Amino acid sequence: MSRLVVVSNRVADLESGAQSGGLAVAVASMLEETGGLWFGWDGNIIEEETERTPNIVRHGRATVATIPLSRSEYETYYLGYSNKVLWPSFHYRLGLLDYESSFNEGYRRVNAMIADHLATMISPTDLVWIHDYHLIPLASELRKRGVKSRIGFFLHIPFPPPDVVVAVPEHAWLIETMFAYDVVGFQTSSDVTNFQRYVLEQADGVLKAGGQMSAFGRTIVVRSFPIGIDVDAVAKMAHTPEADASIRLLATRTLNRAQIIGVDRLDYTKGLPDRVRAFRRLLELYPENIKRVILMQIAPPTREEVAAYVEIREELEGLSGNINGEFGDFDWTPVRYIHRAIPRDILAALFRGSKAGLVTPLRDGMNLVAKEYIAAQDEDDPGVLILSRFAGAAEDLEEALIVNPYDMDDVATAMQRALKMPLQERVERHRALLGRARAHDVTHWREQFLKALANAQHRYAA
Ligand code: G6P
Repeated sequence: MSRLVVVSNRVADLESGAQSGGLAVAVASMLEETGGLWFGWDGNIIEEETERTPNIVRHGRATVATIPLSRSEYETYYLGYSNKVLWPSFHYRLGLLDYESSFNEGYRRVNAMIADHLATMISPTDLVWIHDYHLIPLASELRKRGVKSRIGFFLHIPFPPPDVVVAVPEHAWLIETMFAYDVVGFQTSSDVTNFQRYVLEQADGVLKAGGQMSAFGRTIVVRSFPIGIDVDAVAKMAHTPEADASIRLLATRTLNRAQIIGVDRLDYTKGLPDRVRAFRRLLELYPENIKRVILMQIAPPTREEVAAYVEIREELEGLSGNINGEFGDFDWTPVRYIHRAIPRDILAALFRGSKAGLVTPLRDGMNLVAKEYIAAQDEDDPGVLILSRFAGAAEDLEEALIVNPYDMDDVATAMQRALKMPLQERVERHRALLGRARAHDVTHWREQFLKALANAQHRYAA
């Protein structure tokens, strides 16, 4: 069997289980099963740009190789081109795009540097799987270094329509590099359509049978592979004796008030201020909820050196403070806001203890919190998922209450509906959603992708 080599910017700490974002969670649970090599950034920054040798640690069947970034690489490649250019624009937020030419230079340099390391570690029979927007040109750098293995790419974030992509500086170069892969995977069918449109309209490409696309003299497989979670692992975490105790304690502390929960990195794509505004609308439109409902928002910090993240934090904290000041009482705090990462087992218990899960991003590749909320529920007394139509997960999770996160009244009405929903309807919706989360779980995602990669016509073979 071929060895799996996974490359992503962010690598999870397999030892502590501390993980940031959906990518790290999914890849960690995949590698625990398949074994293989995981290469990425160790999260550290060194002041001098010196020769680096990867730090290699074994964890069960997986080997994790990591390197630090220099200060200038961090600023240009990670904060710059990845998170001030690609992240906002691929989430349809061109107003937040902030470009300097040094960003693209740094992005190219880091991808070349990673390729230098990897080229010596990869053998021709390995299956190489590269993840996310930080590393789009990595395959083309590996090919320049003579790597002939099959290489696949998966984009965890949305791929926007061509009118948006063309605003990205260096987009023509960037998209051309995607043709050095054998398989390019996206989260949803609308991401695939957007990519196909770009290639047809901007790169004189051709769409062929079996999801293949030709452009720049190469043919690649382009498909959607919706990412999922390990459903049983989350269900198990939500149903331990410790989880039972936490839920009982929560009920006592909140005087059995209904809790609505949101868990998101504090990112402007997640629609957090809009969500707090919608909660205020709930209290205004349906005052019976005053003193009866709590919004628990867990929003761990992320990318705090990018100005847009500082601004969103201030906005969210201002709105939460206002609502608590205006509506709260000595024995009721309407919005409980936690700006810290919470261990995953505690989150699972909190999901189970909440009447509704509020997942209302303005745009999101998939959103695994939606699937985790479903997996954590009690099947005979489940909570209700409220899901933005702009999350990739909405393409599949039809039995959630689907909302427009820009429309406060729509979200407030869905919250009220969730709080009032009869048991039978909750059970039926949840059963259907759980079936979908199981059908499209992390194993299915991995197997489908690796099957497509193994079956792809191998054009680089010696
Ligand atoms: C999203 C991205 C991932 C990223 C994660 C956390 O899920 O798709 O690539 O790792 O956010 O962000 P960070 O910048 O901390 O790695």
